[in-house]
Amino acid sequence: GLLDAKIKAKGKKYFGSAADPGTINTAIDATILTSDFGAYTPENSMKWDATEPSRGAFTFTNSDALVAFAQAHGRLVRGHTLVWHNQLPSWVSSITSAATLTTVIQNHVTTLVSRYKGKIYAWDVVNECLNEDGSLRSSVFFRLLGESFIDIAFKAARAADPAAKLYINDFNLDRPGSKTSGMVALVGRLKARGVPIDGIGTQTHISIGNAGTIAGNLQTLANTGLDVAITELDIASSTSSADQAQQSSDYKTVAKACLAVSRCVGITTWGVSDKDSWLTAAKAPLLWDTNFVRKPAYTGVDSAFS
Ligand code: G3I
Repeated sequence: GLLDAKIKAKGKKYFGSAADPGTINTAIDATILTSDFGAYTPENSMKWDATEPSRGAFTFTNSDALVAFAQAHGRLVRGHTLVWHNQLPSWVSSITSAATLTTVIQNHVTTLVSRYKGKIYAWDVVNECLNEDGSLRSSVFFRLLGESFIDIAFKAARAADPAAKLYINDFNLDRPGSKTSGMVALVGRLKARGVPIDGIGTQTHISIGNAGTIAGNLQTLANTGLDVAITELDIASSTSSADQAQQSSDYKTVAKACLAVSRCVGITTWGVSDKDSWLTAAKAPLLWDTNFVRKPAYTGVDSAFS
């Protein structure tokens, strides 16, 4: 692929995109996914509500399709995500026993990770567990199990696929501050307890004008001794040409930031075209426009890799 080939020439593992049946089954999306991207993250199809809507009843139609598409094209997959307070079925959030929740987490993690053993480069094992002040978010997981829910999930994932890289993933890790410090401190505690963790994912959902602190922050995260990855990159903007030019510059800055940090393994954008972004087309956050034409943002990334 084009951007993927160029980032690999710079020593990185992949340039990736979110994908799912909606895009892999749309010809123009599939063409771009295979031309420019070397890794896919399922945007929704591996989440808890999609895979275990009721206890012990698993559905894998959409996630199987995404993994099969990646395998057919020789691409990596980032599994997303095993334990998250959002898109969590109500049968999980209404559990009241720590012992039951432990079993439920172990069964969910073991079932998903085992199913795709050998086919997943990295799993986002725990997603968005921090508050903005760096403390642990009050989810059903934290309320019943404290911080140990993280240990339980990572240990189950490692046992099910010892070769997969295991990540903790969060947003607003783009600048110094209490959330970044909280992540560094949490990773330090996990490592001290022997929790099997390999990487920190920084989602990098940002707005134009906010890319300048990312290289330094990636290095701060990498200083924990773990790999780091930019996992859900998009840059909220507007469709005006001035804002799209700023966005192009910001994409170049973010792409160069990963190149500058040796432990940064790759970059994933959160979708292909502005047409399908969760942020809506009005914010024009991605590299291709609603007509699947390459934007200045594409040129920004391309120039960072050239
Ligand atoms: O599948 C249902 C469909 O049956 C229903 O008719 C439709 C009506 O609303 O909703 C569909 O579900 C939507 C789902 O996307 C699939 O399209 C949900 O409403 C919608 O909330 C969901 O949004 C996703 C969001 O996560 C949910 O939290 C976005 O697509 C997805 O891009 C977004 O991704 C997250 C990452 O996983 C974690 N980090 C933040 C990022 C952006 O929010």
